[in-house]
Amino acid sequence: MLVLGIETTCDETAAAVVRIDAAGHGAILSNVVRAQLDEHAPYGGVVPEIAARAHAEVIAPMVGAVLADAGLTLEDMDAIAATAGPGLIGGVMVGLVTGKALAMAADKPLIGVNHLEGHALSPRLADPDLAYPYLLLLVSGGHCQILEVRGLGDYRRLATTIDDALGEAFDKTAKILGLGYPGGPAVERLAREGDPRAVPLPRPLVGSGEPHFSFAGLKSAVMRAKDSGLHADADIAASFQQAAIDCVIDRTRLALESVRDSGAEGMSALVVAGGVAANAALRGALETLAAGFGLRLVAPPGKLCTDNAAMIGWAGAERFALGYTDPLDLPARPRWPLDANAAPVRGAGVKA
Ligand SMILES: Nc1ncnc2c1ncn2[C@@H]1O[C@H](COP(=O)(O)OP(=O)(O)OP(=O)(O)O)[C@@H](O)[C@H]1O
Ligand SMILES: [Mg+2]
Repeated sequence: MLVLGIETTCDETAAAVVRIDAAGHGAILSNVVRAQLDEHAPYGGVVPEIAARAHAEVIAPMVGAVLADAGLTLEDMDAIAATAGPGLIGGVMVGLVTGKALAMAADKPLIGVNHLEGHALSPRLADPDLAYPYLLLLVSGGHCQILEVRGLGDYRRLATTIDDALGEAFDKTAKILGLGYPGGPAVERLAREGDPRAVPLPRPLVGSGEPHFSFAGLKSAVMRAKDSGLHADADIAASFQQAAIDCVIDRTRLALESVRDSGAEGMSALVVAGGVAANAALRGALETLAAGFGLRLVAPPGKLCTDNAAMIGWAGAERFALGYTDPLDLPARPRWPLDANAAPVRGAGVKA
């Protein structure tokens, strides 16, 4: 089956064509991402109205381009998958309405995909041997969570951040160091030239019996280190990255122990997804951690970690293969947690 994927939840407009075969294995036939860097650069962050307008300007020609690139037409698609949330609502509406219009015009089924489910299932597109259930570390610009992925649509949240997401912490560190946006790749590059032990930085919640994450205190400490004028930027970047990785490893170890000790069905792998999963130092540390639990680490290639539509097409394909489709009046959702039953976290804001 062939699925067209559309993604517009933040500042990347993306379209892709993916195939799922009878064995449930996936392939990417074409995949285009356009980041709105110039549009938002003057403002130092993503402006929702500008994002929505920019998506509207490019999404229709981009869909034509990915179909042409795959040597296919809309008629060849078996379903249209568009992100229905969570994200900046204007952008989500642009992508979802585009998906609905195409589905209606070509008389194809529509599948509304949860952007986070796209991230959560992207490792199965990259690695056909990755079976449910697996333990997922989801680290992106807006989220930092550990979830048991038990099956399609069946997620149990074990941990989340009580303040900032991990990608947000990388982006803020980049801003403090004047490295521009998006900051993660720039911080990783500069960190290679610095000493990770040079700047003493806190590791929030490390050693705590509570399962969650916190990065706000680390970000403030980075700001103080910069303001002190005592440290080279490369040392700050390296020390920040090391502190962040130490936090992630400690929290993920706690989750792996709790799953191991719970008597629940064994996990097939430790999986990392979302934009920060592109970070090589983090991947290396997670690989060592997973090996200690007798698990392999599965991490999709970098271009499937940051926002893209192949992961949306793939999540749509997995859904469609099980017979799920959505009505044409499906609403766009600014918030849409993967685990609707997860209890609110003490001290946390409104993040899912
Ligand atoms: N090599 C890297 N090292 C660290 N962080 C990175 C790296 N590459 C990308 N990131 C970070 O990943 C984030 C972007 O990831 P992604 O596109 O998945 O987030 P998002 O879609 O904005 O958020 P969400 O998926 O939670 O809605 C940014 O914060 C970026 O700085
Ligand atoms: Mg994302």
